[in-house]
Amino acid sequence: SECTEMESIHGLLISLFGTAVKSAFPNLPDAPVVITLSGNNVKFGDYQCNSAMPISNMLKQSGTKVAPRDVANEILKHLPSHQLIEKLDVAGPGFINIFLNRTYGLSRLSTIFSHGVQPPKLEHPIKTIVDFSSPNIAKEMHVGHLRSTIIGDSIARLLEYLGYPVLRLNHVGDWGTQFGMLIAHLKDKFPDYLEKSPPIEDLQAFYKEAKVQFDNDEEFKKRAYASVVQLQSFEKDHVKAWKMICDVSRKEFQKIYDRLGINLQERGESFYQKHMEEIVKELDSKGYLEEDEGRKILWADAPGNGSIPMTIVKSDGGFTYDTSDVAAIKHRIEQEKANWIIYVTDAGQATHFQLLFKCAEKIGIVDRKKHRLDHVGFGVVLGEDKKKFKTRSGDTVRLVDLLDEGLRRALEKLEEKDRHKVLTKEELEKAQTSVAYGCIKYADLSHSYNHEYVFSFDKMLEDKGNTAVYLLYAYTRIKSIARNANFTAEGIKEMSKEHSISLDHEKEWKLGKVLLRFPEVLLKIAKDLYLHCLCEYLYEVSTAFTEFYDSCYCIEKDSSGDIVKINHGRILLSEATALVMEKCFHILGLNPVEKM
Ligand code: ARG
Repeated sequence: SECTEMESIHGLLISLFGTAVKSAFPNLPDAPVVITLSGNNVKFGDYQCNSAMPISNMLKQSGTKVAPRDVANEILKHLPSHQLIEKLDVAGPGFINIFLNRTYGLSRLSTIFSHGVQPPKLEHPIKTIVDFSSPNIAKEMHVGHLRSTIIGDSIARLLEYLGYPVLRLNHVGDWGTQFGMLIAHLKDKFPDYLEKSPPIEDLQAFYKEAKVQFDNDEEFKKRAYASVVQLQSFEKDHVKAWKMICDVSRKEFQKIYDRLGINLQERGESFYQKHMEEIVKELDSKGYLEEDEGRKILWADAPGNGSIPMTIVKSDGGFTYDTSDVAAIKHRIEQEKANWIIYVTDAGQATHFQLLFKCAEKIGIVDRKKHRLDHVGFGVVLGEDKKKFKTRSGDTVRLVDLLDEGLRRALEKLEEKDRHKVLTKEELEKAQTSVAYGCIKYADLSHSYNHEYVFSFDKMLEDKGNTAVYLLYAYTRIKSIARNANFTAEGIKEMSKEHSISLDHEKEWKLGKVLLRFPEVLLKIAKDLYLHCLCEYLYEVSTAFTEFYDSCYCIEKDSSGDIVKINHGRILLSEATALVMEKCFHILGLNPVEKM
C-alpha cells in the first residue's frame, strides 16, 4: 500500500502483532492480523487484537486443534516488547485487550506545540487527480454539482495534507452538440458578436430560447449542426463564439468557488478534442471498435448477459461523453503520470465509470496493479419533503440563492446566540460566513456519501449533535480557555516548554487517546474515502473534550472572579485539542473563528 502506517498507533500495533503472529504461526502466512478499537468499556482496554479466533479456525482446518485462548497466549509470547503497551489481557474466547501506556502517549502528544499537528508520513506519495465539481456550460450548476464540489474539495484537501501531489481538475461539460445551437442562436441575436462581446445575462434563458428554435425551425437546426462541425474543426469565429458563451458560465461558476474557497483547474471536455480524434484512430486500427448501426462501440466485457458497451463515435460522426472520458483517462495516466484518479459525481454515473475503468484496462491504458481508480458516487440531495430538491415553485434551486439563504439564516442564528452583543461587527461577519458555508459543507460531508441526504437549513443550524454549528462553537469555547487566562499563542508556546500536557486524570487520558488517533483516522479515510468518518472523529474529539472539561478545572477562580489557580497541563491539553480540531476543520473545508 502507498502509506506507511507506522506513524499511527493502530499501524504500530498491526506491525507488532503481525510480527508476533508470523513467528508464532510460521505455517500460516495468511493469518489475519486484526486490530480494532475496544469500544467504550475501559476494562477491555484501548485496542483489541481479534486474530486468535480466525487462526484457531485455520489450524482446525489443517487438522490441529488449538483453542482460541491458547492461540492468543501464543501470540503474546511472541509479541515484541514496546513502550507503547502498558498491559495486555486475554479475555473471553480469546480477545487480546491492549492498554496503552500514558508516558508513551504523552511523548507523542507533546511534540504538538513544537512541531504542530503532523500528518502521518507517506512512504510513496503517488500523483493523484481529483476530478470534481464539473458542471455543464449553459446549464445551471445544481445541488448535485455542489455536492461533488464539496466532497471533491475535501478529498483533495485530505490527500494534500497527507503529502500527495494532487491535481484538482474541473471536467466541465463545455463541448458537444448543444454548442451548435448556442452558437447559431448567438449569431442570430447578436450579429456583431465578433466586435463586442454579447451581453448575455441569463445563459439558461438563452439556452432555452436556442432550444425552442432548434426544435421548431428546420433551417436553424441545419445551421446548428453545421456550427458543431465548424467548432470541432476549430474554425476561428466559431471558437470565438464558443469562448464567449463559456465565459458567461465560467464567471457564474467562479463566484460559487470563490465564496466556498474552492480551488480547481478547469480542463473541460473540449480540451480533449484532439486526443479524442487520436484515440479513436488508435482504437479503430487495433480493432477494438465494433460497428453498430452506424455507431462505433467499445465493449468492456463480452457482449450479452446484460453487458453494455461504450459509445465512442456516434452515427453522425460526433464524439460522446464516453469518448471524452476515454481520452481523458489516457491523458491523465500517460501525460500527467497519475497513479490515482478519483472521480466525484452522482451515483447515477456508477455504471459509466465501471465501464470506463474496465475499458481503460482492456485497451491497455490502465494497469490496476499500478493505478488506483475510484468513483466516489454520491446519493441525491432531497428537499425536506423527501422529494428531489426544488424551490417551492418547482424550479431547480440556484446555488447563489442557496448560499445567500445560508448567510441570512446563519446571521439569525448568531444574533440569537449573541444576545448581549459581545461580538464586533467584523467578528460577526466572519462568524456568519464561517457558519453559513461551514454548515452547508458539513451537512454534506457528515453523511455517508452513498446515501441520499435531506437538505435542511433547520437541521444544519442546530447547535446540538454532530453539526457544524455545535463544533464551531465547541472550538470557540476551547479557544476561550487560554484567552480568559490571558495567554497568547506565544504564551502557550512558552508554557509548553516548562509544563507538559496533563494526562493523569482519567478524563484527560481519555481525551488524549482520542487525539492520538488522528493519524490513523486519516490513513483509513485515504483508503476508503469516507469523509464522514472524519466528521465522526471530530465530534468524538469534542465530546471527549466536554467530558474532560466538565470534570477538570483548567482555571480556578475565587468568589470575586479572580484567578487563584491555573492548571497549565490542562490548558495545554485544551490547546492541543484545538490544534487537532483545526486540522479536521481544514480538511473538511471549514474556517473556524475564535469568537462567535
Ligand atoms: N459534467 C458531468 C455532469 O454534470 C460530470 C463530469 C464528471 N467527470 C468526468 N470525467 N466524467 O454530470
